[in-house]
Amino acid sequence: MSQSLPVIGDPVALIAGASHRRVRHDGRHRGTYVDDLGSGTSGSSVALAETRSGGDGLTVTEVTVRFGGILALDRVDMIARRGEISGLIGPNGAGKTTLFNCLTGLYRATSGRIRWNDVELLGMQPYQVAGHGISRTFQNLALFPRLTVRQNVIVGMHRVRRTDWVSNALRMPWVRKEEREIAARATAALDEVGLGDVADRPAAGLPYGTLKRVELARAVASEPSLLLLDEPAAGLSHSEVDELMDVVRLLRDRYDLTIVLVEHHMGLVMRLCDHLTVLNFGRTIATGSPAEVRSNPAVIEAYLGGGE
Ligand SMILES: Nc1ncnc2c1ncn2[C@@H]1O[C@H](COP(=O)(O)OP(=O)(O)OP(=O)(O)O)[C@@H](O)[C@H]1O
Ligand SMILES: [Mg+2]
Repeated sequence: MSQSLPVIGDPVALIAGASHRRVRHDGRHRGTYVDDLGSGTSGSSVALAETRSGGDGLTVTEVTVRFGGILALDRVDMIARRGEISGLIGPNGAGKTTLFNCLTGLYRATSGRIRWNDVELLGMQPYQVAGHGISRTFQNLALFPRLTVRQNVIVGMHRVRRTDWVSNALRMPWVRKEEREIAARATAALDEVGLGDVADRPAAGLPYGTLKRVELARAVASEPSLLLLDEPAAGLSHSEVDELMDVVRLLRDRYDLTIVLVEHHMGLVMRLCDHLTVLNFGRTIATGSPAEVRSNPAVIEAYLGGGE
């Protein structure tokens, strides 16, 4: 299955911009599979606002975002402990991508706090957030179709460049050295996600699952410490989802990453995540381990469509 890619002209927009609208590549129904959620028997009393004493990891506290009359996020709390894989789940329109956009400086929260270790991210520009080692993938593919897979990865590596534009224009020797290093790092990232063989192929025409991995490679090539994945399993086959789980764990271990992933694929979420936060209508309705969350009546209600 191949994916026709949007033509994107502005690399800055590519890296910094995110669309909040999903464009399904396959036209299939989207959403969580309630069966995958399981139905725990015990009630859960997971605290909504877990607080953290240290500065270890990501702590989102009472983040609120408005779009005109829409209250997209209403005092949302979330944590992601360092070195863990955390899941951010919830029905369509719950505010998951909006929260990612706040974390990466694309949207400005009206109020609240977003701390990554000891740094307050709220109020920062996207490039400043990236400078603190935070990287992401997008819900919709954002790749340059005519560039090769490796070039698409390199485009995302501006954070690790040290040479200035004058040196680049004059093609100074250290520029070529840096370019070689960056290409080597991109190649290493592509090898990690199993795409070494297609590194020199144009992105256009590659299967959808491959393109999702290109985004993953691009996100890790700049050697982030916090990686945000917006629906990495969307549109993947069963076997691709299993492979993705292995790759995400491998990347976490290899790059010593803290990972937050937004997903509708509950099978993957329940098996992969150490900790979950559930949003519904812009609010945090549950947090805890996958086992705790899946037996939480408010979560079951939200997914069964009762809502509020
Ligand atoms: N830029 C924007 N302007 C206006 N409304 C927005 C904007 N971004 C998001 N919203 C609205 O905020 C709400 C949350 O949207 P968001 O995309 O964050 O949901 P989501 O949980 O990621 O959903 P999905 O699972 O469908 O991707 C929705 O009502 C959406 O329409
Ligand atoms: Mg979304």
